[in-house]
Amino acid sequence: MVAEASRVFVLTDENVAPLWLSETLHWLGCKSSVDIVIAPGEQQKNLKNTQKIWETLTQHKADRSALLVNLGGGVITDLGGFAASTYKRGIPFVNVPTTLLGMVDAAIGGKTGIDFNGFKNQLGTFAAPLDVVISPIYLSTLPERELLSGLAEMMKYGFIHDPNLLKINKDNYQNYILRAGEIKRMIVKEDPFDEGSRKVLNFGHTLGHAIESYSLTTKQPLLHGEAVALGMGAALWLSIKERRLDEEVLQSYMTQLPVLLSRADSPFCETDVKPILKYLSQDKKSKNGQKRFVLLEGLGHPVWDVEVKPDRIKAALEFILDKASIR
Ligand SMILES: NC(=O)c1ccc[n+]([C@@H]2O[C@H](COP(=O)([O-])OP(=O)(O)OC[C@H]3O[C@@H](n4cnc5c(N)ncnc54)[C@H](O)[C@@H]3O)[C@@H](O)[C@H]2O)c1
Repeated sequence: MVAEASRVFVLTDENVAPLWLSETLHWLGCKSSVDIVIAPGEQQKNLKNTQKIWETLTQHKADRSALLVNLGGGVITDLGGFAASTYKRGIPFVNVPTTLLGMVDAAIGGKTGIDFNGFKNQLGTFAAPLDVVISPIYLSTLPERELLSGLAEMMKYGFIHDPNLLKINKDNYQNYILRAGEIKRMIVKEDPFDEGSRKVLNFGHTLGHAIESYSLTTKQPLLHGEAVALGMGAALWLSIKERRLDEEVLQSYMTQLPVLLSRADSPFCETDVKPILKYLSQDKKSKNGQKRFVLLEGLGHPVWDVEVKPDRIKAALEFILDKASIR
């Protein structure tokens, strides 16, 4: 893939570059590249950095055979995929995820995007990477908090498809990386444009995204997987009320949730419920103002587009913020 490119560009961040940039270029057999290194973090998934990538591509006269290698976590693969898919109506890009969350989720499936005006993934495209290169070696330098964030996304596949993935922990997760990616690929293949069955991937994300968007306005923002971990708890609570899910599923998850959140430091309080619900009103999954959730009828049996009444959503949010002991 690198050999066929007229020019290779690499997008990465300031944490990943010193650790993995030269090694990765060597492994890819890339002798020369134009490197674009941005600051790390969700706040960087913005229009300004998209413009920086477009400007670099333009400045170096990138044509449609140029290749963009996105080396980093979900922020880099989302941002780079978005910039590549819009430059000259789309140039090829390869994702090399360096976080667990990237390997099992963000780098796969062809959704790209950036945040805009405080809303997560407000601008984006569907554009499949030319390839996704997975190597657990990158995880050797990943901070534990980031690892736990990825574990939460891996557990999502346990709830919606294969309950074996609910057994994962910090010691055994490497055995399940390929299985998690395989499940995502299979779900995406059936519904690449998110019109029906792919929506199950949003399990835990409806409230999770609202919690994440709100937490980004605070001094101690949650990581994506941490917010999703809370969102999944709320979705399980709703599943019991709306779809008679066995209460034991929630009880068991409540023993795992403190581990997933053990490195988070986000003291929510009662007054945060209202603003979180305000972010929920911007959710891309709502239709005619009605909030729609992915819920479970049983383990591995998700249902999507479930409309839930506002009072119940509020109660689910209060439940999970309370149980997570971070209110
Ligand atoms: N497109 C999709 O389908 C999809 C799915 C899920 C999540 N996402 C997006 O992914 C993003 C979150 O991704 P993330 O959790 O990977 O976060 P991230 O990209 O911010 O990376 C997390 C942190 O780890 C650092 N890092 C990355 N790899 C490292 C390594 N190997 N060693 C040391 N440090 C390393 C980064 O510099 C960063 O500080 C969110 O923006 C979310 O919306 C997208």
